[in-house]
Amino acid sequence: MFNTHIGTDIEFAKQLLISGDVVAVPTETVYGLAANALDAGAVAKIFEAKNRPFFNPLIIHTHSIEEIAKYAEFDNLSLLIAQKLMPGPLTLLLKKKSVIPDIVTAGSDKVAVRIPNHPLLLSLLKSINFPLAAPSANAFGYVSPVTAEHVFQGLQNKIPYIIDGGNSAVGLESTIIEIENESIILHRSGGLAIETIEAFTTKKAIKPTQQKLPKTSGQLKSHYATATPLIQGNITELLHNYASKKIALITYSNIYKNIPEEDQFVLSRIRDLKEAAKNLFSTMRTLDEQNKYEIIIAEFFPNEGLGIAINDRLQRAQFIHKH
Ligand code: TXA
Ligand code: MG
Repeated sequence: MFNTHIGTDIEFAKQLLISGDVVAVPTETVYGLAANALDAGAVAKIFEAKNRPFFNPLIIHTHSIEEIAKYAEFDNLSLLIAQKLMPGPLTLLLKKKSVIPDIVTAGSDKVAVRIPNHPLLLSLLKSINFPLAAPSANAFGYVSPVTAEHVFQGLQNKIPYIIDGGNSAVGLESTIIEIENESIILHRSGGLAIETIEAFTTKKAIKPTQQKLPKTSGQLKSHYATATPLIQGNITELLHNYASKKIALITYSNIYKNIPEEDQFVLSRIRDLKEAAKNLFSTMRTLDEQNKYEIIIAEFFPNEGLGIAINDRLQRAQFIHKH
């Protein structure tokens, strides 16, 4: 049990991390729950606080490409991508070096690495001489946090400190890719549009083959789930099917006629997918907190750019309904 504090004391956070404790940290994607990635005991505390199954590997966070190279081996294409797109909402799977404990990678010979683009976290990373392993700072299975307050709601008394870095600018977890035989494998769509990577490399990204699919949280069919049942689909049809229930609508920019406007949550009136991504998780949490909706109905977003990751998260948040 901890008395969980929220603040911007980087020195205090650093001391906690050095003593093998966990600290919640802001990133531009979502908040992370961080510990010294080189200390298996410290990393174990992350799993404990989150109630996260141990078969789920963690991303390590550093401040530079030179740092990453201490913990993983770059192939040429991964290095070019890192030089172009890091820091940013991108994670690369690279061959791990032996300093990284097995608990971080769940026994895999690949380690996930990323350079987050957040000034407070970057200054913390520069002040320590180890990388930080960090999953999203939510209780396992729930919607990822994009404010310090969200972290507090899920993990209070389980962790000593939360660094408050304001609202996460991107609002979706990082895009995870792996280079294999010069091909780009997309493991998780996320905060960096895959089109950006494709344009830079002039290669088309491919999906992982079934046996390569790691048994990891982001890949679990049900994840990022609200407590209120959520269903994504054709709005008109769903409004009809659930007419007897108290409905909240999540839409891109449309307002629908046959449901009160106050129950409609528009993610971007100007149809900007970046703005919609930034608002998605906060909106899902707000709807849960209000505790007055029996079902959340979400629209399909355009399947391009960040819309791909928005649709992915909404799909995984779906409650499987028996009619
Ligand atoms: O934006 C993000 O990526 C955030 C912030 C905190 O950096 N982190 C995050 O972590 O979303 P998490 O643990 O919620 O998701 C990490 C996912 C795992 O579920 C898994 O899919 C993948 O990264 N992953 C990590 N290490 C891996 C490995 N060695 N092999 C395959 N997949 C791995
Ligand atoms: Mg997560």
